[in-house]
Amino acid sequence: MDEFQALLQTIQRLFGIQCTSYKEDYIKRRLASRMNARHIKTYKEYQEFLLQNKDEHEPLKNALTINVTKFFRDTPVYETLRSEIFPPILRQRKKLRLWSAGCSSGEEPYSYAIMLYDTTTIMKDVDWMITATDIDEVILKRAREGIYEKSSLEFVTESQLRRHFKALDDGRYEIKPHIKEKVRFQHHDLMTSVPISRNFDIISCRNVTIYFSDKQKNDLVKMFHQGLSPGGFYVMGMSEFLGREVESYFSTYKPLQKIFVRKD
Ligand SMILES: C[S@@+](CC[C@H](N)C(=O)[O-])C[C@H]1O[C@@H](n2cnc3c(N)ncnc32)[C@H](O)[C@@H]1O
Repeated sequence: MDEFQALLQTIQRLFGIQCTSYKEDYIKRRLASRMNARHIKTYKEYQEFLLQNKDEHEPLKNALTINVTKFFRDTPVYETLRSEIFPPILRQRKKLRLWSAGCSSGEEPYSYAIMLYDTTTIMKDVDWMITATDIDEVILKRAREGIYEKSSLEFVTESQLRRHFKALDDGRYEIKPHIKEKVRFQHHDLMTSVPISRNFDIISCRNVTIYFSDKQKNDLVKMFHQGLSPGGFYVMGMSEFLGREVESYFSTYKPLQKIFVRKD
């Protein structure tokens, strides 16, 4: 086995991340950024360094999975869901299930929860719940804690901040329990091609697939098709595209916001 493969095996053993499923170029670039930061020249040297230095684990994991996110990132997408998509589902079905796939530290699912909470305060007997998943256990722990720096709240309004966050003494903000209890976090690897359930009304998987190969992206779209109930919505990242091979699985609802509807 060469040095690069040996390093990938160590990464899989330490973090449970299967680098072999990702594009090799992508992994090599991410590893290079960490190796440069530590002034290390060979994969073998970096593998030894990783085994001996626990403080390299977190930065490497972040470099490989890129957890960057924000509350209400890409506001037009949230606005479309709030005004056009949530109300008819809630009115007609009295029930809404949303899956935030690749949820990182929780900003995305909590943003949806804030909007659904506000939408349903004037509705009677509606049942809604959000399932949020990620491959990274450490980031999921942070998501469950629900404590955020002011910088991630740029698009949260004053009123939302007052009603749904508690200001902490150290200047950070914690999501209040009435929002926290509506989001269920669980570990899930999107490469496994198995949906966590098959009755979602909306699946949001945004800014997750940048390092997936075309085949992995297509498999993911087919998996989401299985995970949605008839007429369900699939929300992609603003700079992501539906591959030609899977175009027939969805019709476009909002091309700019990358919102699609499941075809039967
Ligand atoms: C850039 S964040 C996106 C967060 C949020 N969806 C947003 O758009 O703001 C990408 C997340 O995808 C997760 N991720 C990467 N590969 C994954 C996989 N195979 N299965 C599940 N989650 C994955 C990463 O751990 C990271 O938290």
